[in-house]
Amino acid sequence: MPTVLFHPDHRLWLLRGPTAAYAVRLAEDGAVRHVHWGAPITLDQAVQAGERTSPAASSFEAVAGVDELTVEGGARFGPPSLLVRFSDGTRALQWRYAGHDVDGGHLSIHLDDQHYPLRVTLHYHMHPDSDVLERWTTVRNLDAHHPVTLLRCDSATWTVPGRPHYRLSHLVGGWNSEFQLRRTEIPVAETVLTSRRGMTSHHANPWIAVDDGTATEEHGEVWSTALAWSGSWRITVHRDPVGRTTWTGGFGHEGLTWTLAPGEALDTPTVAGLYSVGGFGSASRAWHGYVRRHVLSHPDETRPVLYNSWEATGFDVDEAGQMALAARAASLGVELFVMDDGWFGARSSEHAGLGDWVPNPARFPTGLRPLASEVRRLGMRFGLWVEPEMVNPDSDLYRAHPDWVLHMANRDRTEMRHQLVLNLARPDAAEWTHSWLDRLVSKHDIDFLKWDANRPFTEAGWPGHGDPDRLWIAHTRAVYQIMDRLRADHPDLRIEACAGGGGRADLGVLARTDQVWTSDNTDPVDRIGIQHGFGQLYPAQVMGAWVTDSPNVATARRTPLRFRFHVAMAGVLGIGGDLTAWTEEELTEAAGLIATYKLIRPVVQHGTAYRLRGDGTLTGMQYVHGDDHVLLAWCPTRRFGHQPPPLRLASVDVAATYRDLESGATYPGALLRHAGLPLDLPPGDHASTLVRLRHLG
Ligand code: DGJ
Repeated sequence: MPTVLFHPDHRLWLLRGPTAAYAVRLAEDGAVRHVHWGAPITLDQAVQAGERTSPAASSFEAVAGVDELTVEGGARFGPPSLLVRFSDGTRALQWRYAGHDVDGGHLSIHLDDQHYPLRVTLHYHMHPDSDVLERWTTVRNLDAHHPVTLLRCDSATWTVPGRPHYRLSHLVGGWNSEFQLRRTEIPVAETVLTSRRGMTSHHANPWIAVDDGTATEEHGEVWSTALAWSGSWRITVHRDPVGRTTWTGGFGHEGLTWTLAPGEALDTPTVAGLYSVGGFGSASRAWHGYVRRHVLSHPDETRPVLYNSWEATGFDVDEAGQMALAARAASLGVELFVMDDGWFGARSSEHAGLGDWVPNPARFPTGLRPLASEVRRLGMRFGLWVEPEMVNPDSDLYRAHPDWVLHMANRDRTEMRHQLVLNLARPDAAEWTHSWLDRLVSKHDIDFLKWDANRPFTEAGWPGHGDPDRLWIAHTRAVYQIMDRLRADHPDLRIEACAGGGGRADLGVLARTDQVWTSDNTDPVDRIGIQHGFGQLYPAQVMGAWVTDSPNVATARRTPLRFRFHVAMAGVLGIGGDLTAWTEEELTEAAGLIATYKLIRPVVQHGTAYRLRGDGTLTGMQYVHGDDHVLLAWCPTRRFGHQPPPLRLASVDVAATYRDLESGATYPGALLRHAGLPLDLPPGDHASTLVRLRHLG
């Protein structure tokens, strides 16, 4: 079945996924208008839907329907996706259809301005196995003589059908509190979600979901979109007074402009959109499937259990200390040892050394080779922390190239965490960055890089360079290019995306990395909420989750080792505590829990995830992979006398029997679905359990 259908008489296009469809049509004024985003429909039904597009409410509202890429021009007053200024000062756009192409699941619709030589191509792409629709836009300046200025260039406009209410789900947060899920009624207004930081940010994530206010975890229609971009971004949701809800989003924040020279084109990043029924849980599962099949490069690989030195040592790393940690980590069953910040230059604190990527001779007298060899002798892979986009002013790099950082004439260079941002839009700085990374990876056969970025852009200028705002795009593209090049040249290299914790998690970075460091907050109670938000879009196999010391460094909360493990086991398990301070008893327990994680990780990392909600503070996850089910349940706190009742599973064959692989007990599926699984929770706060069930048929 072709995913793209065209009706030539009605000039209407229909894209069909397995359980969703999307239709657009060419309007009389030359614009492409939205027709349908929802349940599967036929081409004839799409034609009928197109004919029924509501007329303008009155002559005071002259444009009927919503454009697929909203612009300025005519009686259009909503937030534009594309805003241009021609060299003579004209800003409005008037379209003329210039043809379309279909290539497999990829539809391109070309529109030319009726007067000015400007071509816009609207791209739509659907994979046959997914309901996710990928969209992006190309703007090409066909004028041989004049530049054109883009005041805004979003990836797409999205429109949802008319409903009495609209609710927005989105993620907010900050450092140490990323991915907090919020649901809120969409006001009749323009609601802006954005990052102006040059990075995806901790404060908002470029994913939103819209429903009519009645969707639950298991029921209801949900429309959601996610932007594949790791720099600044903006999404504007517009609920208009006549009851329509649309949104537009793309790279860059307000106030930036990009000039297209004669003949030049700009491609926006992809924004992916998903219509799903079956509530928020089903939307998340569809996104997880899409990320695995169409975003990640190595989705079938099982992520190793890693050890990371950061919380144990801070900047105090040296050969003997790292070897001691490595020995303990290996004895626990860790498979990848990652040395974090502090191994290079004069980096004994956050004040100096960033940019000087040579091992500190006082800490590693003969370089990194002895440590790398020892880690490998212990049977682990070797990984290193890097922060390639940043520099401390107190560094040899900055002393040699003070002009390589983002800066503006006559303005201070604002330091954050005592560092500045390298301007990787500069080809010389980008080339230098690639070459030291390439040398480092080659020389030590590095298996894993933790790619960190610990501050946002400020004074994002490039004095003397023609189009200064372009660097907001060019920097991120340069990061992508360096990652892509490294991965092409070192096919076994794996990368973890990090930006002071979870400040750079998005579909763009995931296309060239393997996992994300979710948050610097490793407190398991806080993590339950952080992981809940992260999992709305991103699958468990990319969610880095460490077990660290108690009391926790961030919150000072004391929690049992088992609880810390059970929370971290919901993602890619890592250990980040000071193992030299763990007791023999703790080390033995940890080794047992790591062995258990290895048993469940194919199910957690490659299975289908269901969020569970029990009574009181009890929440959990159910993962299903073939006949294997894994249940993780967490109860951070309990009222006096309260024992959570059995936890109902979300995915159960009611006609089957299930066996608990630990205790051997068997349960009828109907009982697991309706009455729930009795949980063997220890008493008190921070109680948790892990159950492995097998479907017996
Ligand atoms: C921020 C990261 O999130 C931490 O895990 C650690 O790598 C530090 N940076 C090191 O400076």
